[in-house]
Amino acid sequence: MPETQLPDWYHDGIDHIWLPYTQMQTAKPPLPVIKSDGVRLTLADGRELVDGIASWWAAAHGYNHPHVLKAVETQLKEMPHVMFGGLVNEPALRLSKRLAAMLPGDLDRCFIAESGSVSVEVAMKMAVQYFLNKGESRSKFVHFRGCYHGDTLGTMGVCDPEEGMHNLFGDVIADNILCDLPRTEAEAAKFTIFLKKNAHTIAAVITEPLVLGAGGMIFYPPETLKWLRSACDEAGVLLIIDEIFTGFCRTGTMFAVEQAGIVPDMITLSKALSGGVSPLSVCAARDHIFDAFLSEDPTKALMHGPTYMAHALGCAAANASLDLFEREDRLGQVAKIEQQLKDELAPCRDLPNVKDVRVKGAIGVVQLHDASNIDALKPKFVDAGVWIRPFRDIVYLTPSLTISAEDLSILTNTIFSTLNG
Ligand SMILES: Cc1ncc(COP(=O)(O)O)c(C=O)c1O
Repeated sequence: MPETQLPDWYHDGIDHIWLPYTQMQTAKPPLPVIKSDGVRLTLADGRELVDGIASWWAAAHGYNHPHVLKAVETQLKEMPHVMFGGLVNEPALRLSKRLAAMLPGDLDRCFIAESGSVSVEVAMKMAVQYFLNKGESRSKFVHFRGCYHGDTLGTMGVCDPEEGMHNLFGDVIADNILCDLPRTEAEAAKFTIFLKKNAHTIAAVITEPLVLGAGGMIFYPPETLKWLRSACDEAGVLLIIDEIFTGFCRTGTMFAVEQAGIVPDMITLSKALSGGVSPLSVCAARDHIFDAFLSEDPTKALMHGPTYMAHALGCAAANASLDLFEREDRLGQVAKIEQQLKDELAPCRDLPNVKDVRVKGAIGVVQLHDASNIDALKPKFVDAGVWIRPFRDIVYLTPSLTISAEDLSILTNTIFSTLNG
């Protein structure tokens, strides 16, 4: 964007901000965005971009959905936030009740935090303390290659070592047990034997269900989740499922675990939970987990409590987001998006640098053979009027679930023409 079109606030603040995952010395300057609406972002120079990512998959209902905005405005006038220690608020309790009803099985207890990473940290702490409260000391987690669960020190210890930046932080992050996801029944049987043998040290197995998002949008079948559930049951190890990306219709069901018919011991939710409007996350636990913390002994209580937990504005946004998932046919929209992505990304298969095209629910992926120039695609997409951020060796779409067929075609056609250019 030409200097003259950059707003004053950009000039004033840009030298004082630290951007995520960015080499601040060499990175191209970020674009100033001044407005969001539906699936469109407006830049400071007036250009509009059709958004193919929905703010890291959070804006499931499109930006500025009036129902969500109204709920936040109403809550704002009453009470934006009050501490959750010793006090509770109506939006948080209503949200917990609704999630307990929506989630499979007896995932009945919600711990409401702010970010996805923190909800995973909470699930991990619950798992460790669950065993401590039963008189067992177990400190390890089994995690899988390709998985991503956050950037905090605890969650980095259960990310894929490449993704989790283990090479930098290896000395400070916990040394957990990295495995490959079982792909066959024979591998699942081996995994079960391994888990049973080492169960005395392992608090939980943790995975993303069906889609390894940040790991490269890799898909795997529901059977694998069934195998993990039964391996954990046989070994007496807890199962944490991280639905921060997959939850709320993204893979074609409300929650991805539904496709496997399993109930994890803890499930983590964020992103679309609050419709991309407010930071909010939930770790929901089953009754037997919650019950293990009940005691006359205060040290058996869950020792976690972020200042902004159960944020009333965030919970109001989440309740409004759940209203929309209930009232509007998001699953029907995902089915249509899935078909359109399949149809319209298929021609990319014939492009010389394309290795794979895959689609699951409202996730469309074009994987490249040679990704050495992947960063050069970013400005090309902006010039073409779309917001698409390729990473690793993939160009992907995770649009708002409310995107129109016309806007989705703009995204798919731009991917084809840019990769073909
Ligand atoms: C599966 C998964 N887990 C955890 C996280 C971390 O969430 P947050 O960025 O809100 O901390 C993400 C974020 O992309 C994610 O996709």
